[in-house]
Amino acid sequence: MSLPVSLKSSNSFSIDSHCPAIYYIRHENDLLPFYGRKPEDYYILGGGTNILLMSEISRPVIKVEIKGREVIHDEGDQIVIRVGGGENWHAIVEWTLQQGFYGLENLSLIPGTVGAAPVQNIGAYGVELQEVFVRCEAVHIPDGKMISINKEGAKMAYRDSIFKHELRGKVLITYVHLKLSKKPNIRVSYGDISKVLESKKILNPSPAEVSEAVISIRRSKLPDPAVLGNAGSFFKNILTDSLTHQKLLEKFPDLPSFPADHGKVKIPSAWLIEKLGWKGFREGDAGCHKDQALVLVNYGNATGIEIWNLAQRIMRSVHEHFGLKLECEVNIWN
Ligand code: EPU
Repeated sequence: MSLPVSLKSSNSFSIDSHCPAIYYIRHENDLLPFYGRKPEDYYILGGGTNILLMSEISRPVIKVEIKGREVIHDEGDQIVIRVGGGENWHAIVEWTLQQGFYGLENLSLIPGTVGAAPVQNIGAYGVELQEVFVRCEAVHIPDGKMISINKEGAKMAYRDSIFKHELRGKVLITYVHLKLSKKPNIRVSYGDISKVLESKKILNPSPAEVSEAVISIRRSKLPDPAVLGNAGSFFKNILTDSLTHQKLLEKFPDLPSFPADHGKVKIPSAWLIEKLGWKGFREGDAGCHKDQALVLVNYGNATGIEIWNLAQRIMRSVHEHFGLKLECEVNIWN
């Protein structure tokens, strides 16, 4: 018999997986019954926007709904805000802009919750969360303790952090502290932002105008999960060394690339996938999006396994053709 509670509306891929029960956490104390439990005894879900459910979740699901937003430090041009892990990320971006607090505008319209943002160090249009992240408050469930993890402790890197490794499944992020500025620091060098602003004849954009430009680019390229199931980029971009990059360029002279930290080179995985003809591919209800090859989509009733099978075919084909290993950005539950 299948488990009683459907998770279809709790994951942006709209996969019809089930669990025995969902516990909504609106306050740290709601977690008390879980204190001391092992990670195998529960599953923590945020906005469900970065997960592929390949099977049922046979343990209770904990859904973070802790709300709240406040300024906790205000000095000169800098302020620090403390935000509940269950707040919607984009709603907080909009709120900061309304208050005249800047730094999040390039991260507009990223789906998901505030508590999930540090887990994969969300990033877009030339900005990553780690630039504004101060610390987060969390509950270490197996230890039954409230803890604080600062920037150094969070070990953030490209779409990565300690929450994906040592602390995976163990901590629930209750509050996130972010340092923002009252002075705009406009960042428009990434991709299409400046093109969009130029087309609107905006020469000195305000943070709100940068936000609007980012929103329009995202809407034009990325499918809305409310309309077409997806979890944003399914794969990470590839970070490689300059020697491998040079060798690839000899074979594929039109290969695009971007400089990355520590002398690495970032190769857009979407380009590799598109080059191999997957962009727009559909089999049953599982597909590779027609406008952004990094995004896998559920046209309606695809199962998690069907999406995963397509992901694997794409990964194999990229490996066979380019000798590069695609890594998933999305968390896989199996
Ligand atoms: N490209 C293609 N084909 C495509 C799409 C892109 O060849 O279908 C190539 C182009 O060369 C383009 C380059 O990829 O110049 C970069 O494309 P884009 O700016 O659309 O970004 P991305 O590298 O594909 C990353 C993030 C996105 C984020 C955008 C913008 C990852 C895994 N993804 O995508 O994040 O919105 O940059 O900053 O790093 C997400 O994490 O879910 C997400 C959507």
